[in-house]
Amino acid sequence: MSAERFYITTPIYYVNDVPHIGHAYTTVVCDAIARFHRLDGRTVHFLTGTDEHGQKVEKAAAAAGEAPQAFCDRLSDSFRALMTQLDISNDDFIRTTEPRHLRACQALWQKLVERGEIYLGAYEGWYAVRDEAFYGEDELTLGPDGKRRAPSGAEVEWVKEPSYFFRLSAWQDRLLKLYAERPDFIAPDSRRNEVISFVKSGLKDLSVSRTSFSWGVKVPNDPKHIMYVWLDALTNYITAVGYPDEATPSYRRYWPADMHMVGKDIVRFHTVYWPAFLMAAGVEPPKRVFAHGWWTIEGQKMSKSLGNVIEPVATARKYGLDPVRYFLLRELPFGQDGDFSHRAMVGRINGDLANGLGNLAQRVLTQIQRNCEAKAPAPGAFSAEDSALLDKASALLAGCRADMAVPAPHAMLERLWAVIGEADRYINAQAPWKLKTADPARMATVLYVAAEVLRHLGILVQPVMPGSGAKLLAALGQGEGARDFAALARRLAPGTALPAPTALFPRFVEEGAAAGAGR
Ligand code: MSP
Repeated sequence: MSAERFYITTPIYYVNDVPHIGHAYTTVVCDAIARFHRLDGRTVHFLTGTDEHGQKVEKAAAAAGEAPQAFCDRLSDSFRALMTQLDISNDDFIRTTEPRHLRACQALWQKLVERGEIYLGAYEGWYAVRDEAFYGEDELTLGPDGKRRAPSGAEVEWVKEPSYFFRLSAWQDRLLKLYAERPDFIAPDSRRNEVISFVKSGLKDLSVSRTSFSWGVKVPNDPKHIMYVWLDALTNYITAVGYPDEATPSYRRYWPADMHMVGKDIVRFHTVYWPAFLMAAGVEPPKRVFAHGWWTIEGQKMSKSLGNVIEPVATARKYGLDPVRYFLLRELPFGQDGDFSHRAMVGRINGDLANGLGNLAQRVLTQIQRNCEAKAPAPGAFSAEDSALLDKASALLAGCRADMAVPAPHAMLERLWAVIGEADRYINAQAPWKLKTADPARMATVLYVAAEVLRHLGILVQPVMPGSGAKLLAALGQGEGARDFAALARRLAPGTALPAPTALFPRFVEEGAAAGAGR
């Protein structure tokens, strides 16, 4: 497994607005997957970045009274800062206004022209700036306000202008063949089925340039036209690994990407347009596109007009970064929609974290500190109960690998927490505190077993909660070199010095309830 590579991408984020919890979600999910593969010995390339061209961004810049580039610089910085604030381990951060990207877009365009895949025509039809997407009349609804809207709810406007077209209609059969030959190209299955029926219903050629505004990548040899922002944006995934220099080591190592993670709203762009553009240019399509669900906030759609937009950094400040990362990955079955509520968050923090992993670590480490001279105890012979628990801990890695291959981070966390429950029951049953004078050798064995289980948990929880995992491992005397998955095959060395433990996860106390909490 050691030399295997893994290339994972987030969507690149529109800079028309500051980051919200939806952006944080896709990013944290990818981060957990990237960290998991790194800890498992793979060479990982994890890409994120910002999508800066198009009419939507141009309008947002104008509304802010700023020049588009200055506006993009400012907003892109807020996404870059988000990565640090959320402890994201991205290897690259791409901006679509960078020279490397303009070059890649123009090269891809040129390739499509050379291969006869692009022709000049005129577009007449509906366009939604918010979605940066073209819609057919049959897809629209007419609201009571007399406005036509796309299925996403975005308002559409009539557009009529000269445009280059991509021969998407010619790719229908080859796309269907791709989906048939590679059943895991689109996941989950519900999304796959939607895409297949969309493609089967017939594809029209796609307008891939605009002339009515100018904030975008210029079409080679016809600079009145700028490229359709989705053609520009999707290309980021190959730009970042070196396209058009297909011989460069990073391109050869990382393309095709192992996984494009996207929200359910942008599946069509990634599973229809993108593989068609690539195949048409003679480039291998990505291996997989996974679509995750959307968060509502306290049961409502998140929107500026409702004033319920969740700001990720403030949220992390309020609840703690790792608890928020844990919540995002644990709260909903990955792929489905879910609700972000204060109550559910506090339930997870106080239940799963403070009373669960936090309490287990605290009781085991405190007893070792007090009764075993602050050193990992030397175990005697293992009883059937000891071995049963150790076996469960040892079986975690294989289970977690299977979960993350789906990917189903919620299932991985459930699996880890099931062992936390087992370990709690084990300690209650073995009651090492009662053995201190009666049978200190047995006490040492019990605490050793519990510490060894904690070591497994500490290692495996790192992809989701890197800070807390590292803190737990440090409390178990495990240095940087002993924290990857290879270390799971070894055992905690008796005699390892353990520093005095500090609480891993404080309980969340509601404001105003603090007075009673200390009693
Ligand atoms: N710029 C495009 C992507 C181009 S990729 C070549 C874009 N950007 S976005 O900023 O609007 O959205 C980025 C991601 O955030 C999408 O995957 C979207 O699904 C996700 N989310 C936006 N709101 C969300 C929620 N309320 N919940 C979960 N994810 C959400 O689309």
